[in-house]
Amino acid sequence: MSSKILVTGGTGYIGSHTVVELQKAGHEVVIIDNLSNSKKEVIDKIAQITGKTPTFHKVDLLDAKALDGVFAKYKFEAVIHFAGLKAVGESISQPLKYYQNNITGTLNLLESMKKHKVKNLVFSSSATVYGTPETLPITEDSQVGIGITNPYGWTKYMIERILQDQASSDETFSVTTLRYFNPIGAHESGLLGESPTGEPNNIAPYIARVAQGWLPEVRVFGDDYDTPDGTGVRDYINVVDLAKAHLAALEHIAPGFQAYTLGTGTGTSVLELIESYKTASGHEIPYSITVRRPGDIATMFTAVDKAKQNLNWTSQTPIQKSLEDDWRWRQNETK
Ligand code: WQD
Repeated sequence: MSSKILVTGGTGYIGSHTVVELQKAGHEVVIIDNLSNSKKEVIDKIAQITGKTPTFHKVDLLDAKALDGVFAKYKFEAVIHFAGLKAVGESISQPLKYYQNNITGTLNLLESMKKHKVKNLVFSSSATVYGTPETLPITEDSQVGIGITNPYGWTKYMIERILQDQASSDETFSVTTLRYFNPIGAHESGLLGESPTGEPNNIAPYIARVAQGWLPEVRVFGDDYDTPDGTGVRDYINVVDLAKAHLAALEHIAPGFQAYTLGTGTGTSVLELIESYKTASGHEIPYSITVRRPGDIATMFTAVDKAKQNLNWTSQTPIQKSLEDDWRWRQNETK
């Protein structure tokens, strides 16, 4: 059997863009996804972009038997693990759902990897593991697991701990965890992008919905932060650049546990993002200033040295192009 890459959550926003980059690099890809937050049509869109249809199995990581059946079917060289629930607010109201889905799902995945001797894992983690950073920019050596404000973030941190312990117990096991900040943008073909069900939690898709006229205005959560214009500052990373980082992590995988922060190294405020989207879409973006959202912090952005040095990866796409690509994707969206 030729070696293949298993991508869990491969029909999701970042997963689907990563499958495109894996296929462009010549990898054979098998996707498993439970389609709880994505549509099966994404498979056809990937095929339209790359000319190759990835193999797809509708499998939930909580179904250990079905999951192991996929491992028995193929010889996997590595796994890229995206599958997981990721809505911060929902995790606060439904913590058990998040711990069950994200932690148990990952444990099932690791059990099958061990049983079928699959030794390489790239984990799509999150900057949330840094909680409230003491100093900026954030680096891979910044403190993790302190001041995390939601169960979603705790699941990412706990999974990293599990992966570290598994790597310590088996010197042939290689794990790379990628801690990224705020993904934005879409594939420049306009065929792939983020399509949150219901009202978006994150600012970028929320602004897009206002530009589309699907929502009346953006609520800016506070303009009294200690930032240049008083609104929250984040490190917005282009989704295709992020997909390329996952490919780079796969191609540079090394024994043990490695962690990388992924971002642009610069911060953008909410008001700057609104202004950029107004230019990208040509639409007015009404907004009002409201109270701060609990758990939010003023500023987050990352250093970029380690990923550049070890993965030969840097973020290439300017915010403006990310938003133009996102707007192009929105033209194909149906309600
Ligand atoms: C960004 C800025 C808000 C919505 C979260 C997760 C993180 C990652 C990305 C997965 C903040 C402001 C937001 C709105 C607003 N997800 N905002 N109005 O909170 O930085 O990160 O999503 O890994 O783990 O924590 O992203 O887009 O929600 O907020 O003013 O309607 O936009 O206050 O300053 P966040 P966000």
